[in-house]
Amino acid sequence: MRFFLLLTFFIFSVGSGNGCQLENSSTEATKDWWETAQFYQIYPRSFKDSDGDGIGDLNGITSKLEYLKDLGVTAAWLSPIFTSPMVDFGYDISDFFDIQPEYGTLEDFRALIKRAKELDLKIILDFVPNHSSNESSWFKKSVKREKGYEDYYVWHDGKINATTGDREPPTNWLQYFRGSAWEWNEERQQYYLHQFAVQQPDLNYRNPLVVDQMKRVLRYWLNEGVSGFRCDALPPLFEVLPDADGQFPDEVMTGATDDPDDRDYLTTTYIENQPETIDMVYQWRTVLDDHKRIFGGNSSVLLIETYSAAWFSMQFYGNRSTEGAHLPFNFNLITVMEQKGLSASHVQEAIDLWLNNMPAGRTANWVIGNHDKRRAASRYGEEHIDAMNMLVMILPGASVTYQGEEIGMTDGDISWEDTVDPWGCNSNPDIYEQYTRDPERTPFQWTSGSNAGFTDGPSTWLPLADGYETVNVETESSADRSHLKIYKSLVALRKSSKTLQNGSTKYGILEEDVLVIRRSLTNSPTLVVLINFGTETKTVDVSQFDKSLTANLNLLIRSLDSTKTEGTGYDPLSLSLEPAEALILTTE
Ligand code: GLC
Ligand code: MG
Repeated sequence: MRFFLLLTFFIFSVGSGNGCQLENSSTEATKDWWETAQFYQIYPRSFKDSDGDGIGDLNGITSKLEYLKDLGVTAAWLSPIFTSPMVDFGYDISDFFDIQPEYGTLEDFRALIKRAKELDLKIILDFVPNHSSNESSWFKKSVKREKGYEDYYVWHDGKINATTGDREPPTNWLQYFRGSAWEWNEERQQYYLHQFAVQQPDLNYRNPLVVDQMKRVLRYWLNEGVSGFRCDALPPLFEVLPDADGQFPDEVMTGATDDPDDRDYLTTTYIENQPETIDMVYQWRTVLDDHKRIFGGNSSVLLIETYSAAWFSMQFYGNRSTEGAHLPFNFNLITVMEQKGLSASHVQEAIDLWLNNMPAGRTANWVIGNHDKRRAASRYGEEHIDAMNMLVMILPGASVTYQGEEIGMTDGDISWEDTVDPWGCNSNPDIYEQYTRDPERTPFQWTSGSNAGFTDGPSTWLPLADGYETVNVETESSADRSHLKIYKSLVALRKSSKTLQNGSTKYGILEEDVLVIRRSLTNSPTLVVLINFGTETKTVDVSQFDKSLTANLNLLIRSLDSTKTEGTGYDPLSLSLEPAEALILTTE
């Protein structure tokens, strides 16, 4: 119903050619909190340590909630905080209903929620549905074929090789973290499927007991006062159904790499993006909506982790009759640049890819970093960090910031000896840098002091990144200008600007390298963003993009190295931008 109502409010027109992109004119219909929210991802292990063991924890997070309040973010999502042997640093959960001891206790978690409520901050948890830890009691019971747990995981006898007579895995399927996705279990005398590490057996979603159990997990944490979930690793949730003989099909070679252990070596036709996965997300949405109906309060949200192509990802939003996830993450600003490099046209392509595929009436979102991808400042170049934070904050919909992107943290330089990420550890010293995710997980940089103020203890679980002496909250807060201060002014603008919350969006390219974005709303000031992604100074005529923009534009926010002056008017007919310079101007 809501879908049809919204449909009538939104008019989408898609054009082509220079400067002509997508435009939507929306009314100022009241938006729910998440539609214009600033989400902030906390990686708990690396955010703030309160007890000196060099590992971040819940009390550490609670002690820094005022920092989040001061940043102006709406909601924090915490990477997993549940009981775990930490093979994949919390993404291998052994007890979905309790807190990892080195992070704290359930009481600490309740104190965190209480403090967050006082500060009007929302807390979102990571929901890891695809797998558990092999140390979970569910898996142990399943190994023993205990009643009710026999089919909790994807078990298979494997195949007998006709020539050698040896037992072999059921298929050639590969895990994400390199190597076979099947592991032999001596005790049960069967193989189990693990799309991630050996210690992360895949739960069997074709078993209704598993489906119910995981809904219990959602309800349990909703009852503890959380405002929703970031749903981990959705594409591999379901695998194809086996044939009548119980056999699964093999995947075929892609030609993308000649490394037979790399997941990209084979297609993932049968092990990712199954239609049942979409339906499961719709079922979780019902769990959330039911909870709200019964207990009242604000909406809680589902954010979906998926790197799948648009044809699959967009289905998570829901369809004509069913609501789905509020926000399937939009990683295009990461992935398009990873593949093609940073340029104005590639940024335009990334924006197009989401907005031109998103069903009408749904809410976009923009992500430039997380704990699985290189630091934004390292990926795009440190000179572009303000520009990229601007994009996330200026484009329509929700924004998502990974901890540290607001101060411009860069990747840590982690040696093979110090590598702890399973993806890195499953490779070798020659190629680990291609796979390891440790560089983007180094401790948060609070001060220029000992261990960057992350811990009072003598050591940190991962080495600190270089540059923390200058790139840290304390230094950037006291500087006249800094990435942090620019980030805060972006959030403040988002919150105060009706144009950003409700306005339409048009974007294009000027002089090849300059991306221009216009946000406009009737009876409100128009905002114009200009970013020079090139390496040469460019002088642009903004009226070529929008012929109504001829009067001087007032500068609101500029990137760190820009030498222009805020509060000054600039002539849009001849506006010069230095390499990497990024500006937000207003007609007001
Ligand atoms: C997601 C997480 C990643 C984790 C994986 C397995 O991609 O973001 O960190 O390793 O799922 O749970
Ligand atoms: Mg600690």
